[in-house]
Parts: sequence; C-alpha cells; structure tokens
Amino acid sequence: PADTLALTPPMGWNSWNQFEWEVSDSLIREIADAMVSTGMRDAGYRYIIIDDYWVGGRDTKNRLFPDPVRFPHGMKALADYVHGKGLKLGIYSDAAELTCAGVTGSLGFEELDAQTFADWGIDYLKYDYCHAPKDRTTAFTRYKKMGDALKATGKPIVYAICEWGGRSPWLWAKAAGGHLWRTTYDSRDSWHSGDHDLVGIMDIFDTQDGLERYAGPGAWNDPDLLMVGLYGKGKSSSPDKRFAGCTDEEYKTHFALWCMLAAPLIVNNDLRDMSDFTRKLLTNKHLIAVDQDSLGRQGYTFLRSDDLQYLRKELKDGVAICVFNRSETPKDFTFDPVKDADILYPADATNAWTGRVSKKGIVRGTLPAHGCEVYIYRRK
Ligand code: DGJ
Repeated sequence: PADTLALTPPMGWNSWNQFEWEVSDSLIREIADAMVSTGMRDAGYRYIIIDDYWVGGRDTKNRLFPDPVRFPHGMKALADYVHGKGLKLGIYSDAAELTCAGVTGSLGFEELDAQTFADWGIDYLKYDYCHAPKDRTTAFTRYKKMGDALKATGKPIVYAICEWGGRSPWLWAKAAGGHLWRTTYDSRDSWHSGDHDLVGIMDIFDTQDGLERYAGPGAWNDPDLLMVGLYGKGKSSSPDKRFAGCTDEEYKTHFALWCMLAAPLIVNNDLRDMSDFTRKLLTNKHLIAVDQDSLGRQGYTFLRSDDLQYLRKELKDGVAICVFNRSETPKDFTFDPVKDADILYPADATNAWTGRVSKKGIVRGTLPAHGCEVYIYRRK
C-alpha cells in the first residue's frame, strides 16, 4: 500500500441514511459522545463522517465554509471536539460543481478544498459523483485530481471514492489514491428490494463475489454503509414497505456478511438511541476481528447447497467460515472443516456470536430463515 492509513477496513459512523439533511454541529458532538459511552469507539469505530448537506458556500477567497446556522462554530472547532474524544472526523464533497443535494462541490477547487479540509483537521474525505459525466476516463481524472490534492497536503486523510461501482472503480481507484471505493448504488434499509437503483442488503451482497481479488491492506471494496439498527426509521427510508427495515436476525446476517467481505464497517444508525441487540452486534469482538484481520483478505462464497451458502475468509492465523441460510424456512446444517473446506490442520471452531468453542471443529445446528453463523478456525 501507498501509505498506512487503511491497513484494515475503516470503521466509523456516517450521517447519511439516518439523518440526511439533519447534520449539525450539535448532532455530530452528540454522536461523538455516544460513540464513546456505548463502547463503540473502544470496539474500533473511529471515524465520524459528515455526509452531504454540510456546505454553506464559498467565501470571497473561494474557501468552502459550512452552513453557518447548523455549524455555528465552524469545522475546526468541531474537529477539535471530535479529536478530543479519541475519534476522527470525516467530511464529504463531490467531483462536480454541485453535490447530490445541490450544495457546492469541489470541481475546479480540488487543491484549495483539500487544503481547507487539512487545515480544519479533517481525517477522511468521502468524494461523491453526482452531476458528473458518466465515462470512466473523466471519473478517473476527477478522482485522481482530488487524490493528488489530498496527498499534497501532507496530512493523513483517508480517501473514499464514491462513484457507486458503475465504472469498475476496483480497477482504477487505487491509482487515483483511493483507500476504499463503493462497489454499489446506495443501500436501502431492506433485506431485498429487487429494485436495481434502490438496492437492499441481499441485492448488494450478491454482486460482491469476484471482487475479492481487488481488496487488500490499504485498498478496500466498499459495499456501502451498514443498515444495522435503522429499523426503517432513517430519513432515507421510504414509505414504500420494501424499505421498512430489517429484523434483528437479518441485521445480524448483514453485519456478519460485511465482516466476511472485509468491508469498511461504517454504521449510520442513531448511536444515541441503540437497542441492546444493535449495540451487542456492532461491538461483537469476534466478528470485528474477522473484518479487521491483518491479512486483509476479502471472503468469498465457496459452496452452495440447498439454500445454504458458505463463505470463507482467510485470516492471518486461520480461516473464518460463514454458513448462511438464504431461504425463507429454517435449515439444518453440519460443517466439517476437513471434509468441506480442506482445513487440514487441527483447529477448534469458535462461534463468533456466542463465543462457544467446539473442540473438534465440526459444527452443526439449525439456522433460522435469513440467519447465519460464523465460525473461526485458528491454527493451534
Ligand atoms: C450518493 C451517495 O452514494 C450516498 O452515500 C450519499 O453520500 C448521497 N449521495 C448524499 O447525497
């Protein structure tokens, strides 16, 4: 990797699905407080990312300034506050004149904006692609321009490329300076929508196989934010009942699968008001360890049988296996690491959810509809 900024997938919080236009200084401070008090920070979540709608405009020297009503103390003061909590601050812009929400974007002001972000103490930039030409060459050129500008500041700023996967960014985003790149359209808070533009968790998951060869330390596929804990209450949910949220079982599977994919773990629920289940899931240390494993491999499907899907993710000192029941009815499973996955060395199986250890490594059970289990096999 070109630098050491994202040797494991970035972890954090983003304002988008839950809050959309409701971003403000006070919200971000409260989220930072909650990140600490809920144990999320200590579980590894570090970046607090302000998405669209924060920009007020450009001043007489063309420098960006935040909406003065919602960010009355300016961004530097907010970054100081967030840093004081042991956290990092992320911000958002767009590779065109306007962002998706129609506020000022960075096209033509890349160096100035990168320097402004650096001066404020920003640690992460999500760079969107609304109102920009569709072709790949322009996308690469515009993303590289900002990537170079961020590097030129000399500050450690993680660069998240957000062109929604349509121009195969896994082939060029690294060369543009990106540490992660979106591989999909925006995720909705739904299990499966069947709608090409309004994708649910399964719609996204089913398009990730094959991309594993592009991910590794410093450069990650980004299958979008975690919907865990939104329960259909986010601003970006819609009255359409296809987007009315998921069950706890489905959120658990969503989180486990994203960990298997070595996805950036960026939540966007209201951390001030989390169910016990949500908090327990998002801070599950075994699943986070699978995601953050230093080998940096993305998991992939290696077996499918009778509605059960098996994924495997190589770890620095072993393998993680996920058994996933895609069907609408409970399914029994038995998994033998030697026979089913050629895990030939002796290893116990640790159930990531319960922490229970099965001595010989053979595991069996019944998965509820849309349920899964993750087992970690570490070489002895
Ligand atoms: C599109 C992106 O894909 C979303 O994640 C979000 O940043 C919105 N734009 C903001 O307008």
